[in-house]
Amino acid sequence: MSEVPAPLPMKLTILSRSASIPSTRRLVEAGRSRGHQVRVLNPVRVEMHLDGQRANLYYRRRKLSPTDVVIPRIAQSINNYGLAVVNQFAMGGVPLVNTARAIAESRNKMRSLQLLSAHGIDIPATVMAREAAELKAMVGLVGGVPVLVKLLQGQEKHGVMVCESLQSLEAALEAILGLGHNLIVQQYVKNTGVDVRVLVVGGRAVAAVRRRPRVGRLSYTLNRGARLEGIQLTLSQRQAAEKTASLVGLEVAAVDLLDVQGRPKVFEVNSSPALPEMEAATGLDLASLIIERAEVLAADGPRVGLPEPEPVAPLLPPAEKPRRKRLPRLSVGRG
Ligand SMILES: Nc1ncnc2c1ncn2[C@@H]1O[C@H](COP(=O)(O)OP(=O)(O)O)[C@@H](O)[C@H]1O
Ligand SMILES: [Mg+2]
Repeated sequence: MSEVPAPLPMKLTILSRSASIPSTRRLVEAGRSRGHQVRVLNPVRVEMHLDGQRANLYYRRRKLSPTDVVIPRIAQSINNYGLAVVNQFAMGGVPLVNTARAIAESRNKMRSLQLLSAHGIDIPATVMAREAAELKAMVGLVGGVPVLVKLLQGQEKHGVMVCESLQSLEAALEAILGLGHNLIVQQYVKNTGVDVRVLVVGGRAVAAVRRRPRVGRLSYTLNRGARLEGIQLTLSQRQAAEKTASLVGLEVAAVDLLDVQGRPKVFEVNSSPALPEMEAATGLDLASLIIERAEVLAADGPRVGLPEPEPVAPLLPPAEKPRRKRLPRLSVGRG
């Protein structure tokens, strides 16, 4: 249990499709046990009204009573609607334990990798293109097959596949691109990489687990039903995770990385991590840590309007001194 003394009671709103979702239930329990008034609102039942002056919120047509802080747990399947609701709360000045923009950035796999890469966080080599033939030709840039093909916008199920040969890669690319989905092709970090999830709350890495595939499963299917085991973070893992959460702008983030001989490569950032499994593996009351962070944000008081856009991160390193006087001809990058 947490040792931080309970603060003044506050009104806490959790945006989640159901109070019976295990992670939501944990947040409700932790909030109530710290003396707060907690309500769970299904984001798709929240209605919004704008008229150029006000940003009103209704729940099943009844005006919502004020809240001190919102914890969004927006499911991927209702991402756009849910993030509109989160922004509507932001317009009313309500502090958020994860802004809509940070959630959106974390959910776009290319965008989050661009942000990390621009700021010196190691990631698995990744390519993106719109044509199967181009992607196939670029496979060398990510170390050759096997590679992972990932849908750009993660799905709740089956958004990632391994391709072991160029033929299977080509078939997968054509099928997915043919359906109009964007995708990335990523270096498959081999079994030597340890799959680590770090929970960062309020800028601080508070817990870490190692994820292992279930017996009888190949390692690349381990995203579903992996066994978790609490681990001690290394300094480099802690630094990578904390910097990642701060770059993406998430108050609560599960930073997923593959540790290759002491070098963490961050591959995904999650804004609504599952809590009970990680609590069971670490023996920590993570839900209470999130509620404590919500208390701090609520105590800092209301914000005015939508958060300021952050300056766009430079995606290119500072220009090097040109070696040649004449501009080189454009060519496809190698290496
Ligand atoms: N570059 C990689 N190399 C090896 N394994 C990976 C790599 N990226 C992801 N994985 C494994 O595949 C799983 C799913 O990938 P992830 O990017 O988290 O997609 P999602 O969570 O959207 O399904 C991860 O949990 C990890 O175990
Ligand atoms: Mg994942």
